Amino acid sequence: MAEVFRNIQDIRDVLKQKRDKNMRIGFVPTMGALHEGHGALIDAAQAECDIVVVSIFVNLKQFAAGEDFETYPRLLEKDLSFLEKRNVDYVFLPSNDEIYPDHFATMIKMSGPAEGLEADIRPHFFHGVATIVMKLFLIVFPDIAYFGEKDYQQLCVVKRCSEDLSMPVVIKGVPTRRESDGLAMSSRNLYLSEAERALAPFLYKALCQVAKDMHRGFDLEASCRKAKEFLLEKGFDKVDYIEIRAEETLEKAEKNTPLRVLAATYLGTTRLIDNIALDETFE
Ligand code: PAF
Repeated sequence: MAEVFRNIQDIRDVLKQKRDKNMRIGFVPTMGALHEGHGALIDAAQAECDIVVVSIFVNLKQFAAGEDFETYPRLLEKDLSFLEKRNVDYVFLPSNDEIYPDHFATMIKMSGPAEGLEADIRPHFFHGVATIVMKLFLIVFPDIAYFGEKDYQQLCVVKRCSEDLSMPVVIKGVPTRRESDGLAMSSRNLYLSEAERALAPFLYKALCQVAKDMHRGFDLEASCRKAKEFLLEKGFDKVDYIEIRAEETLEKAEKNTPLRVLAATYLGTTRLIDNIALDETFE
């Protein structure tokens, strides 16, 4: 039975005992509405660590006014039974006041990978993510923390921030888990209507097409423009960006560096993001 902690001191105390016994602690931070994508992070943590901690906290500070904080899916019972089935050791389930008590006044501001792409559309987002993730690291003190490649810019931001602050935590990216039709698993997929869900896999198809174009030596900027047109023709409501960036730094793409293509789109009011490495080969 996964033990649930709501209080910072309690989880610190229990994890200190484990650390004193030289047990390796793996950490999977989440905002709940768990799916097999989270399952992949937990699997990776269980393969490498003695104790696995999952946090569930819908972090107000990474949502701007007018975004989906209020409506973000909160499925606690289902999430706890998901974690139970996966034999997760500890669940950290703090309240908003536990994390952000009155007079809380600290935010991490970042540049580098926290600029451009998502940040152009959601300028507050990575400051909120960096703040909560570093705070959670200081509560859990994991040896290894696991993040999905689906939120690739977030993974780069967390790596950068953790290194800049000399956090003694190894950050591991876990490949995106996809539905059988290619749609990247995401909690926000729950928002999609039936018709939108039928269109959603075209996002992955568009990214694969860019990768194929690269293997054929085509002009990649033209290929991104073509992918954008393809999605709009298919019925996507908006494409915020489809861009190619250096995989390591997210800087504008240079030749002879491993590359990724990243995209953010809308189907109705649902924002879908996805990305793939361009050196992968696709059918
Ligand atoms: O990816 C998420 O679910 C969130 O951004 C995270 C990393 C748990 C921080 O709130």
